[in-house]
Amino acid sequence: MIDRINRLVAEIDTLKAGSLDEAEQLRVKYLSKKGFVSVLFDDFKSVPAELKREVGQMLNDLKNKAHQKIDELKSGFDQGSIASSVNQDLTRPVHNIQTGSRHPLSIVRNQIIDIFARIGFTVADGPEIEDDWHNFSALNFTADHPARDMQDTFFIATNPDILLRTHTSSVQIRTMETTKPPIRMIFPGRVFRNEAISARAHCIFHQVEGLYIDKHVSFADLKQTLMYFAKEMFGENTQIRLRPSYFPFTEPSGEMDVSCLICGGVGCNICKYTGWVEILGCGMVDPNALENCGIDSQTYTGFAFGMGIERITMLKYQIRDLRLFYENDLRFLQQFSGAF
Ligand code: DAH
Repeated sequence: MIDRINRLVAEIDTLKAGSLDEAEQLRVKYLSKKGFVSVLFDDFKSVPAELKREVGQMLNDLKNKAHQKIDELKSGFDQGSIASSVNQDLTRPVHNIQTGSRHPLSIVRNQIIDIFARIGFTVADGPEIEDDWHNFSALNFTADHPARDMQDTFFIATNPDILLRTHTSSVQIRTMETTKPPIRMIFPGRVFRNEAISARAHCIFHQVEGLYIDKHVSFADLKQTLMYFAKEMFGENTQIRLRPSYFPFTEPSGEMDVSCLICGGVGCNICKYTGWVEILGCGMVDPNALENCGIDSQTYTGFAFGMGIERITMLKYQIRDLRLFYENDLRFLQQFSGAF
C-alpha cells in the first residue's frame, strides 16, 4: 500500500496537460470515484490497525497533492485562453456599459438657467415646505382667495400654517426679505398642487420663477426679457402673445402664450385646439408685495414671472403626456441620453 502511494505521489509530480480538456481527463483518472486515488481510499479498510495512522496521513497528503496539481494545470489554461483570445482579436467589443442620461426636465431647466444667465440673472433656491406667509399672505393673497382652498393646496394636517408650496413665487418673497435691490434672479423648483393626475396636470410639477427689482424697471423691460427668452428657447420664428391676466402679487399682470410647436398652430389636445400654449404668468410686482418685504415701493419697481418646466419640455420635445416624466420608463428616458 505504502509503495503504491509513493508511486502515485511521484507520478502526480510529473503530470502535464496540453489543454483544459486533458487536465479534466487527469482529474477523472486520479480523483473521480473510480480514480486511482479514490481506489486507494477504498483499500484503506484492509490496512493493519498499527499502520492506519501513518497510511491515513499519507493518503490525505496524496489526495491534497493531486487536487493542487490538477487545479494548477487547469488555472494555467483559464488564463491562457483569455490571453490568447485577446491576442487573436483586439477589436472584440467590451461589455456594454449602460450610461445614465439626464432627465428631460433637468435638461430644460438647465437651458432656462443658461438663457437667463446670459442676461445677468443668478439662481437661488427656497424650501418646498412653506408657511402661509411666504406662499400666500406676503404675495398679497387675501384671506379668502380661492387658491388657498384645500382642493389646490396640500396643507400639513396638524398645522394649517404649514403647506407644500403651490408655486415658486414663495422664493420671491424670501429673496426680497433678505436681499437689497437691485435683484435679478431666477428660482427653479418643485411645486405641489392637489390636482387630479392626467395627460396635462400632475400633483407635482416644476416651475422657474423670475424676479427683477431695481429703480425704473418698466413693463417694456418685462416684455423684452420674455421675448428674448421665448426666441432663445423655441427658435427665432416662435410667435408669442401676451394676454392680460390677474395675479394677486402683480399689477398689471399678464400671461404669455407661444405658438404650439406640437401641432404647428392647427390645434391639438395639448393646446386645447387653440394653436397657442400658455407657458408663463408675469407682471409688475405689486407695491404691496414689495412693502411686505421691506422694499420701498416709491423707489423701486420690478417685474416677476413664473413658468412651468413640464409645459416647455413637452413643447420642445413634442411629448403629449405629462405622466411620462414621472414613470421612470427607461425607454422614455434613454431618448434623452447625450443631451445636457
Ligand atoms: N405663481 C404663478 C402660478 O403658479 C405664476 C406667476 C404669475 C408667477 C405671475 C409670477 C408672476 O411671478 O408674476 O401660477
